[in-house]
Amino acid sequence: MLERTLSIIKPDAVKAKNAGKIIEMLESNGFSIIGMKKIHLTKEQAKKFYIVHKDRPFYDSLTDFMSEGPIIVMVLEKDNAIEDYRKLMGATNPEDAEEGTIRKLFGTNIERNAVHGSDSKESASYEIGFFFNELELV
Ligand code: CDP
Ligand code: MG
Repeated sequence: MLERTLSIIKPDAVKAKNAGKIIEMLESNGFSIIGMKKIHLTKEQAKKFYIVHKDRPFYDSLTDFMSEGPIIVMVLEKDNAIEDYRKLMGATNPEDAEEGTIRKLFGTNIERNAVHGSDSKESASYEIGFFFNELELV
């Protein structure tokens, strides 16, 4: 079934100029980019985006990281996009990620892991709505 998911190229990967290589991987794996923007989140915006993690020990450090520099946010569309993009990203910790995945190739550590991807239909819906309105999606 055609699905949409939210992808973020995180500040580490944008700063390292890996965005082009990551976007190339998305397109060559069948994802269509139907919305895209480059923005610099404030700490407060990063805290709101990651509100599900508010009680986790890494919340403060994660939201510092996500607001330290610009990110590239995309809405991706494909059959089974949510699960397929999670597979292409690889495990949260790049050390555990499979060869050839985005996090294996471009991640540094469990926090600075290059990319974000929605983990369910519910989170995709919340996360897409956080960054885009329907008029911005083509
Ligand atoms: O991003 P993913 O869904 O794979 O992992 P998560 O459990 O939803 O965690 C969100 C983000 O928090 C991760 O992508 C990491 O950047 C960060 N994190 C961390 O810094 N330390 C952890 N132990 C777990 C996650
Ligand atoms: Mg997650």
